[in-house]
Amino acid sequence: MSSISLQVNHQYFQTEIDDRMTLADLLRNTFHLTGTHLACELGVCGSCTVLVNDEPIRSCITLAASVSGMSVQTIEGFEDDHKMKVIRECFSEAHGLQCGFCTPGMLITVRDMIIREKCNSESQIRNELSGNLCRCTGYSGIVKATQLANDRLK
Ligand code: FES
Ligand code: FES
Repeated sequence: MSSISLQVNHQYFQTEIDDRMTLADLLRNTFHLTGTHLACELGVCGSCTVLVNDEPIRSCITLAASVSGMSVQTIEGFEDDHKMKVIRECFSEAHGLQCGFCTPGMLITVRDMIIREKCNSESQIRNELSGNLCRCTGYSGIVKATQLANDRLK
């Protein structure tokens, strides 16, 4: 067991963890932040994407111990974020989701793309989103939503 301290969604916590615990399990089971979804648990699908020190990472293959002293932001931590509000509206308008399972990870990735200005063309968006798998939408709605959000946030 180890003691770690970290910031989660702008609040400081100190907690005891098993050394082998993943960040995804810490977020879901200890902090009850179940918007971080788990699917492949192999680092392939992107469903578990969260920000660590403002960088998107896969929480299913990140040890909780490795983020001690860092800042973690999950999908629940964007309530006051203007960019995320616009991106959510665009996903709704452009039918960028169906079951919603991939959506938290997708939204966090799209927000990061927009901040890094990687949303200029459809091929660029598809390339940037290649690490986030969606089994429902066929991606067209997601690409349209991303383009719409990029235009509105310029
Ligand atoms: S659940 Fe983490 S990448 Fe699939
Ligand atoms: S909306 Fe169902 S997996 Fe993407």
